[in-house]
Formats: sequence, C-alpha cells, structure tokens
Amino acid sequence: MKTWDVIVVGAGVIGLGIARELSKRGVSVLVLDRGEPGREASHAAAGMLVGDGEENPEQMRALASASARAYPEFVHEIEDESHSRVDLRSNGTIILLSKEEAATHSSSKLLTAAELAEIEPEVAGSERRALRIEERSVDPRALTAALLKACLHRGAEVASGEQVTSINLIDSRVSGVTTQKTAYAANCVVNCAGAWSGQFPPHTFPTRPVKGQMLAVVSRRPILRHVVRSPEVYIVPRSDGRILIGASIEEAGYDKRVVPDTIQRMHREAIKLIPALAEARILEDWAGLRPGTPDNLPILGSTQTPGYFVATGHFRDGILLTPITAQLMAQVITGESPCLDLRSFSAQRFLQRDVRAS
Ligand code: GLY
Repeated sequence: MKTWDVIVVGAGVIGLGIARELSKRGVSVLVLDRGEPGREASHAAAGMLVGDGEENPEQMRALASASARAYPEFVHEIEDESHSRVDLRSNGTIILLSKEEAATHSSSKLLTAAELAEIEPEVAGSERRALRIEERSVDPRALTAALLKACLHRGAEVASGEQVTSINLIDSRVSGVTTQKTAYAANCVVNCAGAWSGQFPPHTFPTRPVKGQMLAVVSRRPILRHVVRSPEVYIVPRSDGRILIGASIEEAGYDKRVVPDTIQRMHREAIKLIPALAEARILEDWAGLRPGTPDNLPILGSTQTPGYFVATGHFRDGILLTPITAQLMAQVITGESPCLDLRSFSAQRFLQRDVRAS
C-alpha cells in the first residue's frame, strides 16, 4: 500500500497552503477533499487582508500582522509556480465610521470630506467620517486555483470526492485515514476540514459553520479603487470590474441557501454608501460556511494523538491567515520550533475547558 508522509484533510486555502509548504520541504503529501478543492469557505470569501484589525482578538494580532506582511512574497511565489495571477491589490481600505467610532479617533487621522472625495469620489455622504488604511485584498478564488496548481507543481497529490470518515491509529499513533471509498496510509494527518473538522474521530474539534451571504456586481466603468468598509456592509473591488458586497454572519447550521431579502438588504446598504453601484449589474450571489470556534480563535498545532495535527477554525480570517498558517504548521509537523507562539491556539484549550466545566 502506498504511504505518504502527510495526508491533509481539506483542500481549501489552509489545506493547500500547508500541502504546498510541506512539499517545498521535500515531504510527500496527499490532500483529500470531500468535494472539489477550494469550493467551500475559500470560494465564498471576500479576501480582505485585515492585518491589524482592532476587532481581532488580542491573541490573533501577531499572527494576523505576520500573515499580512508575508502576503506579497507568498503571492509572488504562487503566481510563479502556477503561471497564473491572483489579483493581490494594494490600493488600501476606506473605513466609514459610525458616529460613536468617529468620536474615539483623533481628528488628525480622519479624512476630511474633500480628501475622501478626492481619493474615492463615488463614496456618498461627506457627513460620514472616514479613515484610510494600508490594507491589501486578494481574489480568494484565483488564489485557491493558483495554490492548487502550485501544490501539483511541487509534487503534492490532490484527490476530490474523498470524504474522510475516521483517522486510523495503530498503537494510538496515526497510520492514515479511512474515507467513504477507501483507506490511505500516512505517518501524519492534518485536519484542515474547516466547518467540517469536528465530524470524524478520534477528536471532536468544536468548529461550527457560520454562514455568510454575499453578492457580486459588475460595472462597465471603474467605480472604486479602495475596499470600503462600514458597520453595515463591506465592498471589495476586483481588478476585472467585479465588486463584491458582503456579508451576513448567521448561525444557520450547514445551510448554504441564499436568502433574497438578505442579498437585497446588503445591495441597498452598498448603494447608500456608493450610489454609482446602482448602475452595476448583479452578477452572482452565494453563501459560504466560515469555520467558527467558541472563542473565535483558530485551532493550530499538534493534538494529543501522536501524528495528528489540526489547522482549522480560521472563522473570518482564513484567507488572511493562509501564509502564516502554512509556515507554522510545516514547522510543527517537521519538528521545528514554530516562529510564533501557538499556545493560544492549541486544541487542548477546549479539553481543559471541558474538564473545568465538569
Ligand atoms: N472576512 C470577511 C467575512 O468573514 O465576512
């Protein structure tokens, strides 16, 4: 029976990023996906790379800023390996503040109405206070497709339609996985199954699906250069003329249905902020399932089962955290010290909580 050094469960950006990083180090990798690679949360994401979001939990800040810094080099390498473009944009973000938020910012940082009109003329409502920050965005669908090609280029193998039903153990150590169709042998397994990562033994990681609905419009003329974020909605332009508008945050189980009222509400909110969006044609709407965790932090590192690793629960930041997760997980799996402290992200934190609660 063929054996791999590592099996990665889940071919989203996190799984593919780890597979590529391991392959770069000469590790043999098989990636298994229950459906098609990259068609779940990675396909649904907006791709805002919020490196120093104040809303990020404290423990995430070092991870998020390291990953945001790593992005240009990461994309450069992947574009090279895949011979494709992933539309990394560095035009910055305009944050439209609520009255309460504006009151907490020193006025020297706020844009004047004239400055806002100059850098992003289609934004309505000069009465709204705004900030401009350096923040990149990327097209997650293009990134996923390029990462998949880069993995294959580096020698990783990828199989679709392989739903893992259990992690196999011999003498309490990982020996491979069983899928609905067959079994595969490996010395190590990494669970990158996103919202589905708690669904197969031996460990029940407490990830849950958090639904996000979005829409994309397309415009004949350039409307926006920056990403625009407000408390109501965010708007993300792509270089090909698409403009994404999102996103809802819903606890709806594994339900990916699009609700027209929700889409229309977000569309209306976006038009209120940028009236020119009313001229743009609606191209597509969709929903995806973010992998949430009880404390909104990812689960990264080894588990109590030798040979079994986990990289999941990236919630709203999976695209942002792909480069640093790939690097850290490759370090942990190959026995190096991780370049950042992973204790806050350990799978053990949920076990400890269970013990205290009982
Ligand atoms: N990262 C954006 C979102 O989760 O909606």
